[in-house]
Amino acid sequence: MVNENVAEALSLRHIAIIMDGNGRWATKRGLPRISGHHEGAKALIKVMKKVRSLGVEHLSVFAFSTENWKRPKEEVNGLMRLIERMIRERLLPTLNDNPDLCVRFLGDKTPLPPSLCEACLCAEEKNPEGKFFLNVALNYGGRDELVHAVNSAIRDGHKTLDEKTISSYLYTAHSPAPDLMIRTGGECRISNFLLWQLSYTELIFTDTLWPDFDEEEIDRCVAEFARRRRRYGGLDKENPV
Ligand code: IPE
Ligand code: IPE
Ligand code: MG
Repeated sequence: MVNENVAEALSLRHIAIIMDGNGRWATKRGLPRISGHHEGAKALIKVMKKVRSLGVEHLSVFAFSTENWKRPKEEVNGLMRLIERMIRERLLPTLNDNPDLCVRFLGDKTPLPPSLCEACLCAEEKNPEGKFFLNVALNYGGRDELVHAVNSAIRDGHKTLDEKTISSYLYTAHSPAPDLMIRTGGECRISNFLLWQLSYTELIFTDTLWPDFDEEEIDRCVAEFARRRRRYGGLDKENPV
């Protein structure tokens, strides 16, 4: 199958990833945890290219949760600096060279360092016509997103809400629900990621630590996704039992 047609053939429009295991990757090598985050950033660049080459239109990655502020100040500050550097040195030039790429940050930017916040806004302004969406969940929590969505809807005068309206107020309003969610690092939990959106997403948990995750791992996950039968509560039309 031609690479670009893979996503279409499998109805795989959106992949979400919990990029976990950076700290353990570094500790195993006797390195400071922040080195793991640096390696993790490199893995993201590779994986994004691979995901795009398959014809997938949306990639959502969990970079920093609303709960990650609990970590030691040194790690949090190191992460904020790394994320800003990645945006300014890697993402902005990539956006300039790829008008079809569009980035969105999911989460409340207010508590972020002002210069990081500015870098995020600058990246989001680029390529409004982009067709491939990179969603970076930054200071993101699924519960926080729902509270934010409901409050925004109330502020706009809604008295009652339905599913479509709630979806339209989420940070991910521009993306369909993920078809596939991958979590690296061996933990089998959601950790407050895309709580609303993952209702019928296919989940894959792998022991691979995020900095070791690569193009071949994506191929393996996509092959596993291809074996899944999605029923959405109905019956499998192709293989009725
Ligand atoms: C994921 O890796 C990245 C962030 C949460 C920022 P971790 O830092 O959680 O790595 P482990 O789980 O401690 O190995
Ligand atoms: C989830 O990983 C958040 C990110 C990958 C950014 P955590 O390492 O924070 O999750 P827990 O604490 O193991 O649930
Ligand atoms: Mg972790």
